[in-house]
Amino acid sequence: MKRMLYAGTFDPITNGHLDLIERASKLCETLVIGVMENQSKKPFFTCDERVKMIKACTKKIPNVEIISFYGLLADYVNNHGISAVLRGLRASKDFEFEIHMAQMNARLYNKDVETIFLMTRPEHSFISSSLVKEVFSLKGDVSGLVPKAVLKELQRKFEEGVRE
Ligand code: COA
Repeated sequence: MKRMLYAGTFDPITNGHLDLIERASKLCETLVIGVMENQSKKPFFTCDERVKMIKACTKKIPNVEIISFYGLLADYVNNHGISAVLRGLRASKDFEFEIHMAQMNARLYNKDVETIFLMTRPEHSFISSSLVKEVFSLKGDVSGLVPKAVLKELQRKFEEGVRE
């Protein structure tokens, strides 16, 4: 596989995402990490902050490229020579959502693009970016769930929020 895309909000990147990135980077020539810009989710971190955190956490992986994108994932795929799209499966409930998304996207690709699913490791299967932010905001311990660079950014951003 030449260029595989792993898209998400990454608000922020967690150890679960990072594990998938490390494993998927061995399956392709270039792993493109696509940070979604426009969101109904209203991200806590700006797009630039999310990109910077991913860069800091993946600097040891040589074949990773980090981009941000806006609009339809399929448009990005069609216009940037992507041959496969990576998704992670954490639990059976992810499957229901993922199959619909993969099938809808397949209609929108203008060439053969496969969606590749990797199972999340069990120790990461309960992690989500929202849970990390919620636990951190209530002063719970999230070390071990996010990379150190993200922990620092969470501290900075929450302190900034408290001061405002
Ligand atoms: N480890 C830890 N957490 C994980 C994870 C893993 N391996 N995999 C997923 N998660 C978390 C994410 O952090 C996210 O948490 P949050 O909801 O608390 O933010 C949650 O699980 C859902 O992840 P995901 O399904 O990847 O959602 P997302 O918002 O990160 O990304 C897009 C979704 C961007 C890929 C999708 O919305 C998209 O393609 N948008 C473009 C618009 C489009 O084309 N729409 C039509 C689609 S058919």
